[in-house]
Amino acid sequence: MTLQVEVLKPAIGAKVQLDRAMIGDPAVSQELLALLERHTVLVLPQIGLSDAEQLALTDALGERVNVAAQVPGRADAAAVYEVTLNEGAAIEREYVFGTFFWHMDGLTVDVPPPKASLLSARQLAAKGGQTEFATTKAAYAALSDEEKADLEGLRVVHTVTASVREVCGPEGIDEARRALRHEHPLVWTRRDGTKSLIIGSTADQIPGMNQAEARALLARLLDWTAQPAFSYRHEWQEGDCVIWDNPSALHRVVPYAVDSGRRMHRTGIAGVEALA
Ligand SMILES: [Fe+2]
Repeated sequence: MTLQVEVLKPAIGAKVQLDRAMIGDPAVSQELLALLERHTVLVLPQIGLSDAEQLALTDALGERVNVAAQVPGRADAAAVYEVTLNEGAAIEREYVFGTFFWHMDGLTVDVPPPKASLLSARQLAAKGGQTEFATTKAAYAALSDEEKADLEGLRVVHTVTASVREVCGPEGIDEARRALRHEHPLVWTRRDGTKSLIIGSTADQIPGMNQAEARALLARLLDWTAQPAFSYRHEWQEGDCVIWDNPSALHRVVPYAVDSGRRMHRTGIAGVEALA
């Protein structure tokens, strides 16, 4: 290990002192990937990445993916995706409001969900805007054997309409997003045998289960995962970059005002394993 690492919580989060000059060094990239695997959320405090540097870091850790560009008619979405409620932003407001609720990135489009997401703080809100992360890997591991057995084989339909349920009706989002849906296993088993829950605000139905039972189960799993032992709240400083293992962690933002000016830059690393 060459990087200086401070563990934030036993189940989730580590602070890594990374110098921008180290980006692209293969040994450093390998170390970051191993740390990501172990800690699920990596905080690079005040690293101050430019867009070009954020893309270079993204490319150093895997294959770049832009889930925003997977939405039909959105192939031109910028490689560095700006998450903001600012006037004139390219992103739909309803979608940003949807980030106030626990979710994983890229569960409703037709490519494997990103292996990891990177988010840089460009401008902070005066109030709110902290990002919370919760590990669905540790949350799954802590379930009883009986609970694990009950989840075995269940599948979940994820839709964008479900993710904006608390924000607006389906008419509040454009037709292309309204049509987006994808089915995933409730429990994802990776090739290395580790398992995580694939849940969040996009989770809509469990085929073969009645709606009330399905929604109650999904809500209980969300509550279970969000408990303090499995979650970490990041208080942003301008220039911070956070990398998280996307299919192992839920994330959401603490609500902030529409006119707060908050501006975050997101990039993604392609999923190498389909959720199976
Ligand atoms: Fe997100």
